[in-house]
Amino acid sequence: MAELCIALDTDKERAKEIIEELKGLNLFFKVGPYLYFSSRGEIVDRINDNGYKLFIDFKFHDIPNTVRLAIRSVEEMGADLTTIHILGGKEMIEEAIKERRKTKIVGVTLLTSHNENFLRNMGVAYDLKEYVLKLADAGISLGLDGIVCSGREVKYLKENIKKPFIAVVPGISYGEVAGEDQKRTVSIEEAKVKGADIIVMGRSLINRRNLRKEVMKILEILEL
Ligand code: C5P
Repeated sequence: MAELCIALDTDKERAKEIIEELKGLNLFFKVGPYLYFSSRGEIVDRINDNGYKLFIDFKFHDIPNTVRLAIRSVEEMGADLTTIHILGGKEMIEEAIKERRKTKIVGVTLLTSHNENFLRNMGVAYDLKEYVLKLADAGISLGLDGIVCSGREVKYLKENIKKPFIAVVPGISYGEVAGEDQKRTVSIEEAKVKGADIIVMGRSLINRRNLRKEVMKILEILEL
């Protein structure tokens, strides 16, 4: 079984409509900096008050003490899930984990906007797949709860990291989306079969007319 997370990459008004329309469904809502700041944090209360799971996605990467305090406030906000960059290093991850209570902390390896060229230019000798595995393995060994990864690498990571972890998988293709800028996508079924625990979907869902119907269809696929 996998769970569905909807990325609320939209403005406050549309986010409130979505929260209302999907009432009662078992979902995560992902809130990033745009919606969080533009709603002055108000959207978080809406999500919590309506019984959804909350995913605060700010991909923290800073000195250890600053990230520890960030995790403290994400905990206080009632988040179920949040993200930090594994490249922030051992001390940063250990400090973050000290504040963990209910919030699961998942690590970001290498952003998908980076490619092999970026690694070469930075003097990294690993190929991209090896580098992602190295970072993911380090993050999980240090005690992170999971990893954000693409549907194309989730099977490889699950096979090569001994400790169990939560795989959070964005980059899902579903229907047609205008202005699609993600090239390495997988379908919902493929992500699930390959080992995704939480799939993250944004633009392919949030502007649909029959959103509730679409979401219920996806939940059925994920719960099989
Ligand atoms: O493309 P889509 O709108 O479905 O993306 C949903 C969310 O997944 C976005 O909020 C984005 O931050 C995240 N994402 C990601 N890594 C990717 C693609 C999307 O973290 N490769």
